[in-house]
Amino acid sequence: MAGDVTAQVREYFGRAAAGWGRWADAVERDDAARYIEASAVEAGDCVLEIGAGAGEQTLVLAEHVGPQGVVVATDLCPEMVDVAARRVTEAGFDNVEFVAGSVDVIELEEASFDACISGFTWEFLADPIGAAVRVKRLLTQRGRFAASTWAPLPGVPMRTIASTVILSELGLPPPAEPAGVDLADPREFERALSQAGFEDVTVTESPVVMRWATPDAYARWMREIAPHFDDLINAHDPNRTEQIWDAVAHAAADHLVDDGTVRMVNEAFLGAGARPG
Ligand SMILES: C[S@@+](CC[C@H](N)C(=O)[O-])C[C@H]1O[C@@H](n2cnc3c(N)ncnc32)[C@H](O)[C@@H]1O
Repeated sequence: MAGDVTAQVREYFGRAAAGWGRWADAVERDDAARYIEASAVEAGDCVLEIGAGAGEQTLVLAEHVGPQGVVVATDLCPEMVDVAARRVTEAGFDNVEFVAGSVDVIELEEASFDACISGFTWEFLADPIGAAVRVKRLLTQRGRFAASTWAPLPGVPMRTIASTVILSELGLPPPAEPAGVDLADPREFERALSQAGFEDVTVTESPVVMRWATPDAYARWMREIAPHFDDLINAHDPNRTEQIWDAVAHAAADHLVDDGTVRMVNEAFLGAGARPG
């Protein structure tokens, strides 16, 4: 049920928001700017963002639309909105408005946005096609939407390293396949955007390179942005918590590069389309 899914996602990210805030400036990633080209955002535009999280893409959008433009950054969780708002203020931008609420219920004026972007949020939605229809109505004619999703788990080491080590240390099975529309499949992602009524739909490979200072930093990052892992460990084997996280750091060391940092290439897709004119 949509309400149940949204409530669970709300609880999950609400708890995680503090960790996202602590690590936002300490983890490098290279995807924030690519939404601009995919959604054709120009200086002076009014841009909607769904699932702003800690504001990674918000900061780049605020810079790009400039003082004549506006970014309306939204997120399901007020805790995430607080983190993004703090970072935007610290960066000195005053062209961003924040709205907390789910994409399917937030009140925004129809046909009032030149573009909409959304990073790694659509896979959490109970009704991704319904939400895309909603976004389409918020766009002006020919307004563009660009959203990213992660590829299936084996291609996303940033996620799998921690979960594989933790599940195997606890003797638990791998996670179940996602139910419903599988946006990790580029053909389903493309179909979902077309079904929502977008034109000129494309879904392209869009890998995200991420970098942490050390293997231990990777493990601490994951522990803080995904507190459900500690819940899982504590429920099964609370005496081995530190040892299991050491094993996660050890596994991350497979991705050490010459300068001593940890670098992971994570497969992802970038979907885009336009509201019919
Ligand atoms: C994985 S994070 C991505 C954050 C950011 N865009 C990034 O790429 O770092 C997903 C975000 O989507 C938000 N979210 C999940 N479901 C949502 C919904 N129904 N409406 C709006 N935001 C939602 C979560 O609160 C979370 O901040």
